[in-house]
Amino acid sequence: MATNDAGTGASGQVGPNGVRVWDLPVRLFHWALLAAVVTSVATGVTGGLWQMDLHVVSGCVVLGLVLFRVLWGLVGGRHARFAAFVKGPVTVVRYAVDFLKGRAVHTVGHNPLGGWSVVLILLALAVQAGTGLFANDDIFLEGPLAKYAGKALSDRLTGIHHLMSNVIYGLVAAHVAAIALHWWKGDNLVKPMITGVKPDADPAVADGPTRWGWLLVTALVAAAPVAWILSIW
Ligand code: HEM
Ligand code: HEM
Repeated sequence: MATNDAGTGASGQVGPNGVRVWDLPVRLFHWALLAAVVTSVATGVTGGLWQMDLHVVSGCVVLGLVLFRVLWGLVGGRHARFAAFVKGPVTVVRYAVDFLKGRAVHTVGHNPLGGWSVVLILLALAVQAGTGLFANDDIFLEGPLAKYAGKALSDRLTGIHHLMSNVIYGLVAAHVAAIALHWWKGDNLVKPMITGVKPDADPAVADGPTRWGWLLVTALVAAAPVAWILSIW
């Protein structure tokens, strides 16, 4: 039987290993984001000439990835869309209580709590990368757009950039802790984020075919401003 990127059957979405839930763009986005954020934190904390050059580049990659994910959340696959996983407060609180009592309903995509953590992580990273563009270190480094902000505004945005890095550490720690908690409760979420496939999902909720045309458009729209920013740096 022919296999697709998720290792599933001929239809591409349902196969012997389970049901495809995460499309390839979401999975590539996730692991690329992890690499770019780790690089940005490591270089930001270490400092130094080449490290900060790399910091600006990896930070801009984060910006491009976040832009891409926001667009993909509008036009991407079934479970990638914000409409599929951003729920109202009542649903979120009910899910949290049920989860703690051990009787949460199993969700196929992001659960109602996880959906909001995705939104928060994307927002925090957007603010971090956005302020970084205007930041300066008073010595040798300026973000690519700092010259347009003036020193006073650039200094204020640098302060926010420093503060936000702590928020990001907190969000990522909570994110990894939540994944570990699910693991402990017998739900391995990491493997599906690698293969795209969930073994016990209902075939009726399988993802549709990857929308390659939209992928090309969103990737180009997200990459263009980042390429421009780096070109004027
Ligand atoms: C800098 C570190 C990280 C960041 C910024 C990050 C960010 C994110 C984001 C934005 C999503 C939503 C994916 C989407 O819908 O596009 C997500 C989901 C996920 N992440 Fe991470 N992540 C990080 C580290 C990790 C690590 C280290 C692991 C594994 C141990 C992990 C495992 C997962 C899993 C399993 C999901 C899917 C959760 C679900 O099934 O609802 N992440 N992450
Ligand atoms: C998610 C992405 C990013 C993360 C996690 C991050 C994190 C950090 C950290 C931890 C520092 C050191 C703060 C300190 O000394 O206390 C820093 C400094 C800095 N970052 Fe970022 N950053 C990101 C994106 C960016 C981007 C996109 C740019 C510019 C294009 C940028 C420009 C700068 C500058 C100019 C500094 C030096 C400011 C100073 O030391 O006073 N950053 N960043």
